[in-house]
Amino acid sequence: MIDSLINDETIKGWIFDLDGVITDTAVYHYQAWKKLADEESLAFNETINENLRGISRRASLEIILAGKILPDSVMEEMMERKNSYYCELLKNLTSHSVLPGILPLLEKLQSKGRYSAIASASRNTDFIIDHLQIRHYFNGVASGYSVKRPKPAPDIFVHAAGQLKIPVKNCIVIEDAEAGVSGAIEAGFRTIGIGPEERVGHSNYRFSSTNELGL
Ligand code: BG6
Ligand code: MG
Repeated sequence: MIDSLINDETIKGWIFDLDGVITDTAVYHYQAWKKLADEESLAFNETINENLRGISRRASLEIILAGKILPDSVMEEMMERKNSYYCELLKNLTSHSVLPGILPLLEKLQSKGRYSAIASASRNTDFIIDHLQIRHYFNGVASGYSVKRPKPAPDIFVHAAGQLKIPVKNCIVIEDAEAGVSGAIEAGFRTIGIGPEERVGHSNYRFSSTNELGL
């Protein structure tokens, strides 16, 4: 199936989410949030972590706080503390941390003259892609700094398509998060979901993991 999409001349731009599609950082997010939550005596487990997929740092903290209202300065400090734990863990990423199936796909797209971009909610996007040594595959990089409204708003995908100078209708978005697929659909992109039916069943094409891309 992926080959027919790669060969589809109407799909000129390929927009990749980063966390969960290109590399698996969910476990590092979990460990960093867990450390913060333990320090703050907040309940946190892997099920709550699943709900943070694709969601911004602030929205993630709000979910963990579960309705607890704190001054903005306290929330800022917590987000910074979590990020310092997370960045320490990100140093473990190497060129071997790209998920299976992704490098062959990026190479094939490049050889076919397609354009690729990243559209990630993460403010650590640059750090991650440099550690993975994959920057040369991309003609655009949209990160958590690029737009105001986070996913599920469609803004980041539209921004990435703008960087590629390709109309939305000629781009496809690859996402592992429910919020990401929803945002891309809202903007009129075609979508490839990575993950289970319950999470990304609303995408046009679905693979249970990047392994299944089958290149
Ligand atoms: C997304 C992750 O890619 O980036 C979310 O799926 C994360 O879990 C979000 O909260 C923001 O990331 P960061 O690196 O800016 O804290
Ligand atoms: Mg993701």
